[in-house]
Amino acid sequence: MKKVGIIGLGEYLPAKILTNADLERMVDTSDEWITTRTGIKERHLAARGEAASDLAAKAGGQALKDAGLKPEDIDLVIVATITGDMPTPSVAAILQDKMGMKDAACFDISAACAGFVYAISTAHQFIACGSYKNALVVGVEVLSSVTDWQDRNTCVLFGDGAGAAVLSEVKSGGIVSTYLGCDGSRTGVLNIPAGGSGNPATHETVDKRMHYLKMQGNELFKIAVNTMTRAAEEALRRAGLTFSNVNLIIPHQANSRIILAVAKKLGIPEDKVYLNIERCGNMSSASTATALCEAAREGRVKKGDIVLLDAFGAGLVWGAMVIKW
Ligand code: ACO
Repeated sequence: MKKVGIIGLGEYLPAKILTNADLERMVDTSDEWITTRTGIKERHLAARGEAASDLAAKAGGQALKDAGLKPEDIDLVIVATITGDMPTPSVAAILQDKMGMKDAACFDISAACAGFVYAISTAHQFIACGSYKNALVVGVEVLSSVTDWQDRNTCVLFGDGAGAAVLSEVKSGGIVSTYLGCDGSRTGVLNIPAGGSGNPATHETVDKRMHYLKMQGNELFKIAVNTMTRAAEEALRRAGLTFSNVNLIIPHQANSRIILAVAKKLGIPEDKVYLNIERCGNMSSASTATALCEAAREGRVKKGDIVLLDAFGAGLVWGAMVIKW
């Protein structure tokens, strides 16, 4: 099996920014509540008509440039998203055309907030066994399109964005271990009830606002802390490492209180935890992707460092990964 690593990263955040003060004018909430309960101050929102593939193309183009590759060098495209341009075809297929990655294999992965870790892990397997050479993996969401802007329980949480990574064979370092999993018995705590084959769109589903994300936040909070802690422990055990070896943890950015509770349980100091939730909110699969890109750009990840990705989301899925930079 070949060693596989990340050789390029990119990010795109839409220009429009929605602040907590803006939300105060839309629903019964306050900057104080949002900040203290979630750590979020503002989030980026896609413009009307700006689809997931548009965001993905901007992040993907940056990642290719960072990797020093051309679109035709990419033979595998995997997009992690729950807010694709349309139910079919995949965002990956649309992205392939937009970026000129002719003939590359293309598919999407639906694993909500753990989607980027799932997608990186999938690309890893394909490259390690020699089926493909260079993969573009994108975590992208336009969550504003499935957010109920009348529901204060959810609308203060989410944002839009895209993060991308190019994976290829590397001589040293690379992906050391992965731990993916799911508890499918808890699909009811976080879902979009209508719009799929189980409940196709009708006037009634639209009137009942069933095409928006529904979440039992309080219930999820405890599960998120325990699951992310367990996933991180297992990924490190599989890597033969301990938390003292970790230079930086890139967690899914659902809530700063969840992240800091996980870090505390794991005994990881706060300065080893990367956060972009204050500026971006929860961007589901794009959260770990953009956080990794920003951390690398800011010099927080150096050659030889051990980086731990740790994510959790609707499914309920989890995914943790240890990467030697
Ligand atoms: N502004 C003001 N008050 C609010 C708001 C708001 N925006 N939202 C809720 N409240 C109120 C509630 O109505 C409730 O009032 P009540 O006590 O009178 O009934 C009170 O605040 C407390 O509500 P809780 O839901 O208990 O608040 P909590 O501290 O749990 O915070 C939150 C809510 C931020 C959603 C938190 O539970 C959370 O982050 N949960 C986990 C989210 C998560 O992990 N998601 C998974 C990934 S997302 C994905 O996969 C797409």
